Amino acid sequence: MKNLLYQWDTDALPSVFDSVVAYDGGADHVIPYGGVTPDRVGPLVEGAIFTRGPKDKRHTAIFVGGSDLSAGAALFKAVQERFFGKFRVSLMLDSNGANTTAAACVALLSSGRSLAGMTATVLAGTGPVGQRAAVMLAREGVSVTLTGRQMEKTRTVCDALERQFDVRLDAVAAPDSDSRAKAVVSANIIISTGAAGVVLLEERHWSGLPKLQLVADANATPPAGIEGVDMMDRGTQRHGALVFGAIGFGTLKLALHRACVGKLFQQNDLVLDATEIYAIAKEMVVQSQGGKS
Ligand SMILES: NC(=O)c1ccc[n+]([C@@H]2O[C@H](COP(=O)([O-])OP(=O)(O)OC[C@H]3O[C@@H](n4cnc5c(N)ncnc54)[C@H](OP(=O)(O)O)[C@@H]3O)[C@@H](O)[C@H]2O)c1
Repeated sequence: MKNLLYQWDTDALPSVFDSVVAYDGGADHVIPYGGVTPDRVGPLVEGAIFTRGPKDKRHTAIFVGGSDLSAGAALFKAVQERFFGKFRVSLMLDSNGANTTAAACVALLSSGRSLAGMTATVLAGTGPVGQRAAVMLAREGVSVTLTGRQMEKTRTVCDALERQFDVRLDAVAAPDSDSRAKAVVSANIIISTGAAGVVLLEERHWSGLPKLQLVADANATPPAGIEGVDMMDRGTQRHGALVFGAIGFGTLKLALHRACVGKLFQQNDLVLDATEIYAIAKEMVVQSQGGKS
């Protein structure tokens, strides 16, 4: 029985990245669909759930992706609403790599230490990766400030995350270098999740911060989102903090993405979103350290 992964993308052109990782994660065949919306997904779900018998259903799985996390989350919900009884297949949400990227980053930051009680600033956290990183940090007991250039958009994003994940987030408008410097001044953790190639924080603004312990920059397209971070950094000591660059934690992101796809084919009722993917990331970090947390 072949492992079939239906890749349902909310963008018109389905992500090539997600297709490649799906094959590397254990799919025998990846079937990408673009422009999938909640109102058009019904017949697609029926095709996935009605075609294989109970013991073979696990060989069919669904991956929801695309660049828009809100659209992906709505599609993810619509797919689940079509499942009933044993008529379901495993399902994963990772729009723009949001869950796997954020989970890899936060799992490495929390490796070997408790983050509870710390303060974090997620710079440009209104995008898919920042939103999920903020939620994962908050769930670890961190007081999280999420910044964006406009207050209204940033507050709207935080409100939606608070409702969906039962967390508390502080929204701060930080449209320029000075306001972003102010937003990180008392942070123990800084994560930068801005658009590719955009510098958000100058090195002089974080190099002397007395409370800073952990820094991560998700941007893999030069120049770095946080000046002074090397994209290969993986727990590198810089200015008294442990620093992770985009490739430094991107290796775990890729391994995690593949592992999640592999898990989809082990059962027919797995649902992988932020909580589950973060738990898998933490487990992988522990395993990579010989089982010691
Ligand atoms: N390392 C990895 O494995 C990995 C994997 C996936 C993605 N990534 C990277 O992770 C980062 C975040 O991804 P994403 O999809 O969440 O990003 P995104 O949606 O493209 O951008 C995130 C936020 O950046 C802000 N922004 C956009 N242009 C800006 C500008 N000129 N100046 C200041 N802020 C600006 C926007 O916030 P406001 O409009 O609210 O200001 C936006 O919501 C990207 O750099 C992406 O390439 C890394």
